[in-house]
Amino acid sequence: GAPRCPAHLLAMALRFSANLSWLFPELPALPARLEAAARAGFEAVEAAWPEGCPAPALHAAAERAGLRVVLLNTPPGDKERGEMGLGAVPGRQDAFRQGLAAAVQYARAVGCPRIHLMAGRVPQGAERAAVAGEMEATFIENLRHAADVLAQEDMVGLVEPINSRITDPRYFLNTPHQAAAILEKVGRPNLRLQLDLFHCQIMDGNLSRNLESYLPLIGHIQIAQVPGRHEPDSPGELNFPYIFKLLESLGYTGYVGCEYAPKGDTIEGLGWLRSYWESKGMKPGGPRKATE
Ligand SMILES: *[C@@H]1O[C@H](CO)[C@@H](O)[C@H](O)[C@H]1NC(C)=O
Repeated sequence: GAPRCPAHLLAMALRFSANLSWLFPELPALPARLEAAARAGFEAVEAAWPEGCPAPALHAAAERAGLRVVLLNTPPGDKERGEMGLGAVPGRQDAFRQGLAAAVQYARAVGCPRIHLMAGRVPQGAERAAVAGEMEATFIENLRHAADVLAQEDMVGLVEPINSRITDPRYFLNTPHQAAAILEKVGRPNLRLQLDLFHCQIMDGNLSRNLESYLPLIGHIQIAQVPGRHEPDSPGELNFPYIFKLLESLGYTGYVGCEYAPKGDTIEGLGWLRSYWESKGMKPGGPRKATE
């Protein structure tokens, strides 16, 4: 009989990852969220720093559910002091390296090949323009160190611009151009751009051209509607059916991380993904169901 999933449709289908720090907030623990993501049809998950969840517990859940952990972050540092990553923060190099080592150990234990190396914030009391040069130099030195450490593990490090207009006014790395320039200066093949289209739209817009021109640098993409940061099909200024087609036509083969705040029940809000899968000739249950 005819194959259920024509190969040409599967080959160009985007692969989605459920961000467990954002999706399934109704479930308290990461392993339970991971299992819910698997039941929803996801083939991959990602999380920010997996606080409170030992690596063996997440690994066991991923093995049981048969899906991959594809992205983790370096730890934020001292959140009470307002830190949100340490990569570009002068004077915090030792803490950055310790955090990186902890992230690598965790990633190795769960089989995760990518680590987002968080840049961090302009220190309180400092003016961005006055410290930008020193922060960039710190970031470059830390990124070179990270590239060496990650190369030993066959892992990729990612830098992500986070918008400083709305979400995080003091975040150091805030545009795709700044990230691309820094990656070029660092010059290591296992460091890539993590492009969250939510942040990119707020800072720069011009998404089609930015995706086209930065595609060779991109190691991971994340999505959320703008400005609400909810489901891709919630009201907002981004046209995700168009963006998905663009990514397919550009031949993007990485993951698309779903890093949004569900408006209500996470599963009910995944209609956009079930429609996407159906449009690719998959069952509404997603790629996992196709192979079962
Ligand atoms: C749009 O993005 C491209 C690629 O990053 C850039 O070359 C171009 O100057 C941008 N256009 C505007 C109007 O910002």
